[in-house]
Amino acid sequence: MAEAVTRAPLRIAVLASGRGSNLQVLLEACQQGRLNAEIVLVAGDRAGAPALARAAAAGIAPFSLDPKAFPDRATFDAALFRQVGEQRPDLVVLAGYMRILAAETVEAWQGRMINIHPSLLPRHRGLHTHRKALAQGDAEHGSSVHFVSAELDGGPVIAQAATAVRPDDDESTLSQRVLQLEHQLLPAVVGLIAERRLQWRHHAPWLDGAPLDRPLAWPFPVRAD
Ligand code: GRF
Repeated sequence: MAEAVTRAPLRIAVLASGRGSNLQVLLEACQQGRLNAEIVLVAGDRAGAPALARAAAAGIAPFSLDPKAFPDRATFDAALFRQVGEQRPDLVVLAGYMRILAAETVEAWQGRMINIHPSLLPRHRGLHTHRKALAQGDAEHGSSVHFVSAELDGGPVIAQAATAVRPDDDESTLSQRVLQLEHQLLPAVVGLIAERRLQWRHHAPWLDGAPLDRPLAWPFPVRAD
């Protein structure tokens, strides 16, 4: 049997703008020891966001910066990510973070920043993904976790979770089902990174020492060892 490797807990910074249910799932997975990770910072761009309250309830002092107090995107990001960097995170997770990042920020954190997006990328980048999936008659819809690149919702996809669109679905039922999948998908991907199985090498995601040639489909296959 392979010897268990003891690895340092992955240091995670989470950026969130809204409800924070994906943050909550990560917080609980860390607290319950299901993830070998520690959330070292939670920050956002909206002071009243429920996500920040969830962090506070979990004993993490969150902070937010008001974009209106900065002259432009690059200056805002520089201020925000200076504080992020001070916590020396191994990974930045955008979990419902609703601001577009400055190109310099994306470049500085490339390979160390992931985003969760509620569609099966490359379908339906941007907003209103559930509405678009329904309007376009998609047979399947779901969620993707991807490395962040300069292109909005366009970075290399790591993994996806899909659900069949039902004839009686509306935006509400479909979004709820996708959100439930997201709550499984995001910690699973972070788990692969925490186990150092998923890495960023040569500008691409690698899994278990080989380039990931297509996104992993949730649920992930169980490894033999
Ligand atoms: C999720 O659907 C995520 O894919 C998208 O924003 C939503 C965030 O939800 N980027 P929550 O704030 O984590 O509840």
